[in-house]
Amino acid sequence: MIIKGEEQVTEAVLEAMQGTPDARLREVASALVRHLHAFAAEVRLTEEEWELGVDALIRSGKACTDSHNEMILLSDVLGLSTLVCLMNNGAGGPTETAAALLGPFWRMHSLHVANGGSILRSETPGPTLFMQGQVVDTEGKPISGAEVDIWQASPVGMYENQDPGQADMNLRGKFTTDEDGRFSLRSVKPAGYPVPTDGPVGDLLKAQKRHPYRPAHIHALLFKQGFKTLVTQVFVDEDEHLETDVVFGVTEALVGDFQQHESEPPEPDAGTPWYSLEYRFVMTPGEAKLPVPPIK
Ligand code: BEZ
Ligand code: FE
Repeated sequence: MIIKGEEQVTEAVLEAMQGTPDARLREVASALVRHLHAFAAEVRLTEEEWELGVDALIRSGKACTDSHNEMILLSDVLGLSTLVCLMNNGAGGPTETAAALLGPFWRMHSLHVANGGSILRSETPGPTLFMQGQVVDTEGKPISGAEVDIWQASPVGMYENQDPGQADMNLRGKFTTDEDGRFSLRSVKPAGYPVPTDGPVGDLLKAQKRHPYRPAHIHALLFKQGFKTLVTQVFVDEDEHLETDVVFGVTEALVGDFQQHESEPPEPDAGTPWYSLEYRFVMTPGEAKLPVPPIK
């Protein structure tokens, strides 16, 4: 069609896409065009603003490396990553444990640790944490033999691969649930940390007067044949950024009960105060598959 004016642009684009043989691509691309055009019309987007937006996308793409993905970070701070995660992982459905973002720090080949063992591989000052987890199905029945991959930032808010002071694979470990679906580990209490702010996403956060912090959390990836792989995070309940996570990852079900103890610790060298965490993970039937690691 020959366009007469701005009102006809959306219609012209939708018409041009109508012949897309793949029905899902046709649906997604058409909805994207309708919403993009409606957004531009609603804010009466200027040419300068359009250029600014395109430039921000170009700079975000160029800022991506093997160990950093600015485009995913952009999706994270816009809440899109969490929205897609929750829409596809049963939040509010039968599972008690909602999923959460994988984040950029999962590594595929972390080492196996026996139940009760420590995930410290180099000296890591900070309050000791004893975590006990149970993995159950939607009927509450224990799932034995599930692999539980745990990773976390240190008490100064750094993952081992960001911090030359930590040994390779520090604060990472893979556990196998016993016949009661239980696993346990010793670690240190994690701290929150800022997402990278040296790129376009940082510029956006600054312009919006938003802080760049994630509340302290422990990541978990649970794998067992016959169950949908569960990727989630458990958050420290006393963290000051719990309600303002820069990537919107905190859901109610994921706030852990981190208890502080002044009493004699279960292991004499643990020191006081020490912390304990008990958490129940619920897995739903489905496909067991591992994500593509965001870093090596
Ligand atoms: C993380 O939890 O590791 C994370 C998630 C999204 C952006 C940055 C970090
Ligand atoms: Fe994290």
